[in-house]
Amino acid sequence: MRIIIDTDPGTDDAVAILIALAHFTDEEILGITTVAGNVGVKVGTTNALRILEQAGRNNIKVFEGESAPLKRELLTAEWVHGTDGLGGVPFPGPSKTEEDQDAVTFLKDAISNSEEKVTLCVLGPMTNIGKAISEMPEIVENIEQIVFMGGSATGGNTTPAAEFNILVDPDATHIVLQSGVKLVMMGLDVTHQAISTSNRIKNISDTNTKTSELLVGLMSRLANLEIVKKKFPDGTPVHDAFVTAYLVDSSLTKGNFVNVEVETSSDLTLGQTVVDVNEISGRDKNVYWMNEVDDDKLFSIITKSSSLLP
Ligand code: BDR
Ligand code: CA
Repeated sequence: MRIIIDTDPGTDDAVAILIALAHFTDEEILGITTVAGNVGVKVGTTNALRILEQAGRNNIKVFEGESAPLKRELLTAEWVHGTDGLGGVPFPGPSKTEEDQDAVTFLKDAISNSEEKVTLCVLGPMTNIGKAISEMPEIVENIEQIVFMGGSATGGNTTPAAEFNILVDPDATHIVLQSGVKLVMMGLDVTHQAISTSNRIKNISDTNTKTSELLVGLMSRLANLEIVKKKFPDGTPVHDAFVTAYLVDSSLTKGNFVNVEVETSSDLTLGQTVVDVNEISGRDKNVYWMNEVDDDKLFSIITKSSSLLP
């Protein structure tokens, strides 16, 4: 496995990155690329470095990416993740800095030069990936798959129609959906089915590592948001964790191979992912759209990660 994690950390991004760090080696993780989304890209880059510092994995390189969507103004979500992006959870300060190379150049170089096909884990808006593919379309030949958190077949979490990651950069999403790469979609359809109940939090806590405290802090931050409590009284979904947990164990979710397109122009439904659940459009199938999860498995992967990390 060769993976690149593209991320806007982000509380649930942090959980996803920790899962990857627990299960994949420095050799397998070619790099972490950051993108503007939950927070500005500079804060996100610092957070990626802070997460690596905590895990003792400073050999993994961080490449700072795009600071704004391809064609639009940036929309952020500090109200969810805090101004520091990690909900005030005390990750250490970083002792190293990001690389000089920018994320899009790194993506093009690393993917085209990799001897093994590369899997992209996309945890935020698709700006870096869309830009890399449009500047160097031949890289798609060396991408094994793109597993992304984003979208929904059944309504959004940021507008009635759109999920946050896709809404931030629908134009980049469009490029990725048309790319011909194998795409695995972890949308709200599936992420809303796995909740951090108190038993699951206790299991993580019982691993008694420093990481367990941080994981519990990240999930508590989300679970305590009024908007989350209203919809999920027993805990929080941990959206981005699906992406890396799926790479650890692909039996985590089940789904259907269908057509998915994204709305890029309507004011009313901008960023909506139109998932052809009923297979009636006649359009080419392009996405493994996940709609069922073994929720115990997700949390046992998070618990295992906690036990494997410092
Ligand atoms: C997605 O939006 C972000 O706020 C989260 O990090 C996740 O990637 C959920 O809609
Ligand atoms: Ca994210």
